[in-house]
Amino acid sequence: MKKDIIWANCEFKIGAMDIEAIPATHLNEIAFAGRSNVGKSSLVNAITGRNSLVRVSKTPGCTRQLNFFELSEQIYLVDMPGYGFAQRAKKEKYGWGRLITEYLTGRVRLRRIFLLIDSRHGLKEGDIEIMKLLDKKAVTYQIVLTKIDELKEAELQKVIEETTLKIKKHPAAFPEIIVTSSERKLGIDVIRKEILGLI
Ligand code: GTP
Ligand code: MG
Repeated sequence: MKKDIIWANCEFKIGAMDIEAIPATHLNEIAFAGRSNVGKSSLVNAITGRNSLVRVSKTPGCTRQLNFFELSEQIYLVDMPGYGFAQRAKKEKYGWGRLITEYLTGRVRLRRIFLLIDSRHGLKEGDIEIMKLLDKKAVTYQIVLTKIDELKEAELQKVIEETTLKIKKHPAAFPEIIVTSSERKLGIDVIRKEILGLI
């Protein structure tokens, strides 16, 4: 039987720079993926209510490995390095790019991918590329718009509408998107509810 989740009871367990370094785990996994700087690590902090569990930075490329955090001894939250960081493009192609795609498409315990999109920018080419790959491999993912505190209400409605329309073409995308701000703690309850359903 599931125990109650204590959100703040979350600790770093594994940091992996290559796929072979990740041990098989006995718990389900939830991944936070997306472009560099989109707010993945900040969202993990917001979900756990632990401001300094994961390091965040204004500089893209802050998270450099797959970081597994065990939440309340029940599930792993996996904070991923970002993709689409131009200065690192070449390296990424053979390093992080491979790590990210292999993890996202080859992990039996991976129950959900939250694919984070900066609400100010909407879906970009790199996002679509990852989405197509996940569609092809039939790995389901859910779009999470981040940093909505930066938008006016009308701008937010526009990006929600546009994104919802665009993901209709993607068979592995959840039809509902989640709208969040880690800074203002908006939408965090929605993500937590999804996580509870995945343990
Ligand atoms: P990488 O690890 O480099 O891929 O980045 P990341 O996706 O983990 O982003 P991170 O959480 O490090 O945040 C990047 C920047 O965005 C930081 O300066 C955060 O303070 C900022 N940020 C994150 N979430 C929010 C938010 O909800 N609102 C606003 N306004 N800024 C945010
Ligand atoms: Mg990060």
